[in-house]
Amino acid sequence: MSETMKIIFATNNQGKYKEIKEIMKDFGVEILSMKEAGIYLEPEETGSTFLENATIKAKAVFAEAPADSLVIADDSGLLIDYLDGEPGVDSALYLGVNTSYRIKNQSLIDRLDGVPTPKRTARFVCVMVAILPDGTLLSSEGVMEGLIGYEERGENGFGYDPIFYVPDFFKHSAELTPEEKNEISHRGKALRKMKEILEKYI
Ligand code: IMP
Repeated sequence: MSETMKIIFATNNQGKYKEIKEIMKDFGVEILSMKEAGIYLEPEETGSTFLENATIKAKAVFAEAPADSLVIADDSGLLIDYLDGEPGVDSALYLGVNTSYRIKNQSLIDRLDGVPTPKRTARFVCVMVAILPDGTLLSSEGVMEGLIGYEERGENGFGYDPIFYVPDFFKHSAELTPEEKNEISHRGKALRKMKEILEKYI
């Protein structure tokens, strides 16, 4: 990948952006947030899949970006099997976009009240969409499997991390260090796959 290439990452979510910067740090490419690229928009996520929503975000930012930009967007969420995949594609909107994650997390724990551990399976899914300067669309996906815990634990990460138990580490996702989470997370996996794909094109 060219050392001078700049990538605009299409998100306004600071938690995500922090992780993405960290994961991309040894990629040898400069990453700009939308703000750093001077792009101020909040595309409406009207799709019904992660792929559709990531594509909507990537296209909206690509339309505003300088001609030689490579734009990447992601869409992600938490799927809980016992709740038929909720909160799913609407993870950010669950109980309202302005509701605190303390309340969202407690609500999910309450809805799983009495559900035994083997039935508390869940996964984080992340789909990345990249648009090359010539308009070519590329995508990748990453998944992190786990269980919904019985209480919030940990101060790291963001969103639903405090209630997501990661069996391999015997810890909740919010108890993982940023390095540990990026190594195994849905976002880390999707982004590393995207990097491999991009290397063939750039
Ligand atoms: P998006 O900005 O539409 O992709 O919303 C993703 C939402 O899914 C976030 O706001 C969180 O609620 C949830 N989410 C996605 N990835 C993570 C994660 O790594 N940890 C915790 N919550 C996550």
